[in-house]
Amino acid sequence: MRKPFVAGNWKMNKTIEQARVLIADMVPGLQAIPEVERVICPPFTSLLAVSAMLAGTEIGLGAQNMFWENSGAYTGEISPGMVAELCKYVILGHSERRTYFGEKDVTVNRKVKAALANAVIPIVCVGETLAENEAGQTAAVVTRQIKEGLQGLEPAQAPTLVIAYEPVWAIGTGRAATAEGANQVIAAYVRKPLAELYGEVAAQAVRVLYGGSVTAANAAEFFRQPDIDGALVGGASLKTPDFTAIVQAAVG
Ligand code: PGA
Repeated sequence: MRKPFVAGNWKMNKTIEQARVLIADMVPGLQAIPEVERVICPPFTSLLAVSAMLAGTEIGLGAQNMFWENSGAYTGEISPGMVAELCKYVILGHSERRTYFGEKDVTVNRKVKAALANAVIPIVCVGETLAENEAGQTAAVVTRQIKEGLQGLEPAQAPTLVIAYEPVWAIGTGRAATAEGANQVIAAYVRKPLAELYGEVAAQAVRVLYGGSVTAANAAEFFRQPDIDGALVGGASLKTPDFTAIVQAAVG
């Protein structure tokens, strides 16, 4: 059985002080829902403050990105070891990284391997753009992102992955995918290529999330789907009642 998993991706929002206020507001409600693996991914600058506030809770902390090299002359980058000091998780290959910062499947793959080598669990994002969707390329794009982004891992590492299927046209648009449609993509173009890479047992063990305009109103419908194990939540993760309701909906 896969434990439900809900992560909040704060993106480039909240100063340290604002993060403290939001975390203090959110923790009691989230603490009361242990059936769900709960993860918060604030900006790098707030990780230390938030990690101190989450100490002693079962709420996990995640970074939103990292570089693959361990150290050196890479101005502006954060290493896997630095992330590992504070975080159990790291979001990798988010579509905003791919769109605005030129990340490719090959760089996502390096980052995934570096995260796992540092005992950080990657939350790997895949998903087609609107143009790709309209051109009927969803199957090809998502399958390629899985196969190229996740190739070459140690077989024992594969089951620990978390994957988020986030159709780019659904992110921040208020236009979520249908729950059935997202489930079909996950079954056919996420779990199937994963099984081809690492076997059916691993493919069935991996938690796969849906992301893209998840709200307190639509979350339960996604979580009812057999291949959807949770959500990666952007906008709604910045509001305590909304995020708490989404986590509660994942209890089932
Ligand atoms: P959204 O973002 O929930 O604001 O659509 C999701 C994401 O980008 O992870």
